[in-house]
Amino acid sequence: MVNGEPFDIYISEERIRTRVAEMGAVLNAEYEGKAPVFVGVLNGSFIFFADLIRHITIDCEVDFIKLSSYGAEKISSGKVSILKDLNAEVKGRHIVVVEDIVDSGLSIDFLRNLILRENPASLSFVTLLMKPAMAKIDFSVDHVGFEIPPEFVIGYGLDYAQKLRNLRAVYRQRPGS
Ligand code: PRP
Repeated sequence: MVNGEPFDIYISEERIRTRVAEMGAVLNAEYEGKAPVFVGVLNGSFIFFADLIRHITIDCEVDFIKLSSYGAEKISSGKVSILKDLNAEVKGRHIVVVEDIVDSGLSIDFLRNLILRENPASLSFVTLLMKPAMAKIDFSVDHVGFEIPPEFVIGYGLDYAQKLRNLRAVYRQRPGS
C-alpha cells in the first residue's frame, strides 16, 4: 500500500535480472571495439544503469545527465529542461542513452535532439520499460526491456513522489484503485 493505494508486483526481481543480463550481452556484441559512452538519465535510471553496466564487458565510459522532473505528479508537465548536462565529449563518440522508462517520449525526444546537435558517431536508446501506447516519437527505441501498458509503475528506480525508488522489483497500481 502506498498512500492508501494498492500496488501489486508487476515485474519480479528475477525477470528483471534475466532481461538486464540479456540486454547487456546484446550491447557487448553491438558495441565491441566502439568504446561507447553509456549515459544514465537521472534519477530514475540509476538502478537499471548500475545493473546493466555491470554486464558490459567491453571498453566503455559512463556519464550522466539529469532532466527536469515531473515533481510529485504522475503525469508529465509537458516541459523538459536540463538540470545537469553531460560531461563527456559527444562529438564523434558512440552514445548509448539509458532510461528507466519511456512514457510520453518527451524526455528521449528532447535528449535525441540535444545529443544529435553535438554530432555523435552514433546514438541509441536503451530503456528498461516502454509504454508504446503513450510514446509520441518518430524514431524507434533501440533496446526495450519490457513493453508495458499505460499504467503507473514504481520501484527499481522509478518513484512515487520521489519515494520507493529502492524497491527491488517493479510494481503497478492495482487497476481500478
Ligand atoms: C521519468 C523517467 C524518464 C521520463 C520518462 O523521469 O526517468 O526520464 O520520466 O517519461 P517521458 O517519456 O514521459 O518523458 P522523471 O522526470 O519522473 O524524473 P526522475 O528520473 O528523477 O524520476
